[in-house]
Amino acid sequence: MMKRMETTPLKQIMDLTGKTAIITGGAMGIGYGISYRLAEAGAAADAAAAKLSEKGWKAMAVAVNVADAPQVEHMAASAVGAYGSIDILVNNAGIYPNVPVMRLSPEEFDKIISINLKGVYLCTKAAAAHMLKQGKGGKIINITSIDAIHPSMVGLATYDASKHGVWGFTKNAALELAPHKIWVNAIAPGGIHTPGTGAGSMTKEAEEAMKPFMEKIPMKRMGEPDDIGKVALFLASDLSSYMTGSQVVVDGGVLLA
Ligand SMILES: NC(=O)c1ccc[n+]([C@@H]2O[C@H](COP(=O)([O-])OP(=O)(O)OC[C@H]3O[C@@H](n4cnc5c(N)ncnc54)[C@H](O)[C@@H]3O)[C@@H](O)[C@H]2O)c1
Repeated sequence: MMKRMETTPLKQIMDLTGKTAIITGGAMGIGYGISYRLAEAGAAADAAAAKLSEKGWKAMAVAVNVADAPQVEHMAASAVGAYGSIDILVNNAGIYPNVPVMRLSPEEFDKIISINLKGVYLCTKAAAAHMLKQGKGGKIINITSIDAIHPSMVGLATYDASKHGVWGFTKNAALELAPHKIWVNAIAPGGIHTPGTGAGSMTKEAEEAMKPFMEKIPMKRMGEPDDIGKVALFLASDLSSYMTGSQVVVDGGVLLA
């Protein structure tokens, strides 16, 4: 008979003390919401340094373009140099320009795929290389979107392709890394208030497309970065001890509408 696992006491179940987390695009929006909760739980966060350090939590910022392999490797090495390990990676950095296919240039297509999809591959490879060397497992959390499941609005075809790609990547990387106790999951947010979705940062066309989307949210509100931060803490901690290759939808019910 297999030995039953010890039950982690509730007081320790969300404790990330001694762990190091890299959160890409962690300085604002959803990434900041995630950095905040992981740092609060005790992880040394490689993101959003100044605001988190003010709270007395361990954090440092590394400027990186996630689509650039040498910069990504430097980011991973810096985290290990500063804190000694990488235990958690959150692939959050992403862009979502609302441009219809018929007006999207090949260069814009490449840019969306490079940041949203290639960036996830590069960061996963760089961080997992350290996790494999450390030999104590790890957690990788990919921020997809409800658009990885169903289109939220018109104008996001290439974005949707990138996020479907990240979800496919999540499942197969979960399979590949499971023998090494590296668990790979995804969070699919619905509409979240962030600088990227704020007034002024979207085109008039995108703002128009948002209106009917917002009207059909069953919870009758947009999400906040902390709504995602709390689920990231769940996936980064022992609360999700039997999960890999899953995608958690956090959308106020909008996929039902
Ligand atoms: N806000 C939403 O409604 C929503 C919904 C579903 C999914 N998402 C996803 O959540 C993630 C974060 O979205 P957000 O709304 O917080 O975005 P945001 O625009 O507010 O912030 C994006 C962050 O990513 C960083 N970033 C962009 N390009 C980068 C690059 N090449 N290299 C490194 N960092 C880069 C930015 O500097 C910024 O810190 C994205 O992957 C997005 O697709 C957002």
